[in-house]
Amino acid sequence: MSTALATPETATRPRRFVLGISGASGAAYALRLLEQLLLTGAEVHLVVSDYGRRLLFDEAGVTHLDFASLCPTIADSAAAARLVIHPNKDVGAVIASGSFLHDGMVVVPCSSTSLGAIATGSGSNLLTRAAMVTLKERRPLIVCHRETPLSLIDIENMRTLTLAGAIVCPTNPGFYLNPRRIGDIVDFMVGKVLDLLKVEHALNTRWEEAARSGTAAKQQNSR
Ligand SMILES: Cc1cc2nc3c(=O)[nH]c(=O)nc-3n(C[C@H](O)[C@H](O)[C@H](O)COP(=O)(O)O)c2cc1C
Repeated sequence: MSTALATPETATRPRRFVLGISGASGAAYALRLLEQLLLTGAEVHLVVSDYGRRLLFDEAGVTHLDFASLCPTIADSAAAARLVIHPNKDVGAVIASGSFLHDGMVVVPCSSTSLGAIATGSGSNLLTRAAMVTLKERRPLIVCHRETPLSLIDIENMRTLTLAGAIVCPTNPGFYLNPRRIGDIVDFMVGKVLDLLKVEHALNTRWEEAARSGTAAKQQNSR
């Protein structure tokens, strides 16, 4: 019998992330994050709730859940092959199992409904199940909640999730880099999420770089 250890799966597969899109405002964040993850060569397992689908249509004109509609800027069949889309009703999909190894899950945007379902362990769809499994397996779970103002229920759910090991990262962009376009604001948030996932990126999110190059001040003065 061989005593050699098998090569760990993490050494042989690309980085792999789970992305959940729920029915809160901010479809642009999810689409930009999906694009950036695929461009780094990562595999992305996507699950979209029913209201997430509605938001994708209302805010971004996405009519079909497929690679071409979700990632119109990427012309790369290899990237298309790295996107796996799971039906939200399919709680038997691989991402519902703790044995499915991945490098982190992001729920963006995260509605108060999904936040509450994950925090209370009461989720009955694939998105919330995958998030709860990510927590139980102690993998990174980043929850980008979007609602304002917050009720005590949301606040308590965020507290519970934080204590359980999730990172609550509300879609709450800073303006100190003097954004000029909505895309700049979107990139600010998406860059934060990529940082939390430890994925390198070139999005403009860093105060130090803006301060060093004087970009922020120049943009302020040119108004
Ligand atoms: C156009 C639209 C915008 C919405 N925006 C938000 C939002 O920003 N935050 C939120 O918590 N719910 C929002 N909702 C309500 C949620 O979609 C609703 O509570 C739903 O049950 C969420 O279910 P899900 O988490 O399974 O997607 C919005 C609904 C619609 C139709």
